[in-house]
Amino acid sequence: MTDATPPQTAPHPLLDPGACASPNPAGVRRIAVLTSGGDAPGMNAAIRAVVRTASHQGIEVVGVRRGFAGLHRGELGLLGPRDVANIIQRGGTTLLTARSRTWRTPEGRALGAKYLREWDVDGLVVIGGDGSFHGAHFLQEEHGIPVIGIPGTIDNDLYGTDYTIGYFTAVETALDAVDKLRDTGASHERIFVIEVMGRHAGHIAVDVAVAGGAEEVFIPEDGKPVSDVVQTVQESVAKGKRGSIIIVAEGYAGGAQAVGDAITAGTGLETRVTILGHIQRGGTPVASDRILASRLGEAAVFALMEGRRGEMVGTTCGQITHTPLHVTWERSKDVNRDLYRCAKTLSV
Ligand code: F6P
Repeated sequence: MTDATPPQTAPHPLLDPGACASPNPAGVRRIAVLTSGGDAPGMNAAIRAVVRTASHQGIEVVGVRRGFAGLHRGELGLLGPRDVANIIQRGGTTLLTARSRTWRTPEGRALGAKYLREWDVDGLVVIGGDGSFHGAHFLQEEHGIPVIGIPGTIDNDLYGTDYTIGYFTAVETALDAVDKLRDTGASHERIFVIEVMGRHAGHIAVDVAVAGGAEEVFIPEDGKPVSDVVQTVQESVAKGKRGSIIIVAEGYAGGAQAVGDAITAGTGLETRVTILGHIQRGGTPVASDRILASRLGEAAVFALMEGRRGEMVGTTCGQITHTPLHVTWERSKDVNRDLYRCAKTLSV
């Protein structure tokens, strides 16, 4: 992508010449796309899908660098289908991302809207999480620019979609680490308390607890007191277990360190606390994230062509769905309670 001043006439040279147009009642001719907030594996696959679907439909795409921070600074440039070659397998986001304070102000959003108008953009696709969707929603409310959101966050905490892009890869990454920690934990007969990401949500924690065979899992959605871990560990020891894996979601009060401290204080046993952190946001996206990103990128372009606005595209039971942006953060998506229970059952 090369930054440039807005071209007024000629179509991008890389637009698909054999474009196969679907109904485009909204008359969309040029759209913009950006990634925002925490990156997630699969964002590149989503960018690629947006650009290639648009190209297939004879629509130009403007890429915005550094999310909303880049938008209010005018970091825009045309993106053609060859510009997104060889990125489907790459983690991170080639468009770069940021969390912008300026975008939270009406002045910042007005600047961004000015650039989108200068570039003659008919709609904006925002790939990100709830903070990014807030920013997109206000842009549309204040400046009338149609926006469509694509859920991209490892936390899987958006209402209106069964899964978010990046979640599957993050779970695999965390699980790989848990398996490795189990090896050393079992050898030393130690208790490992492992913190996975999830600022407000325990989706990663519950999946990893079940798949990693954990003794206990702590999530922010549950009011379970940290002292519960003492009984869990005491029971494990009584059953003859020589090591334990305890999974804690980042958003659980006090995090893994509080749980580790409670174990030591309550049982006198040695613990090791491991915070997996940002490693969970990197790496090659697994197939499920690439496929989800590809479907949702296509769906986002179709949504703008149909005249949809202010919605997130998602999948529910395998079908594409559209959810008003504000609903994605106003309603909360609960963790899978069956899995949560299963984690406990299987730790017997
Ligand atoms: O993107 C979601 C997330 O990874 C959360 O799980 C985590 O709490 C947060 O982002 C970390 O954000 P930052 O990269 O700004 O530290």
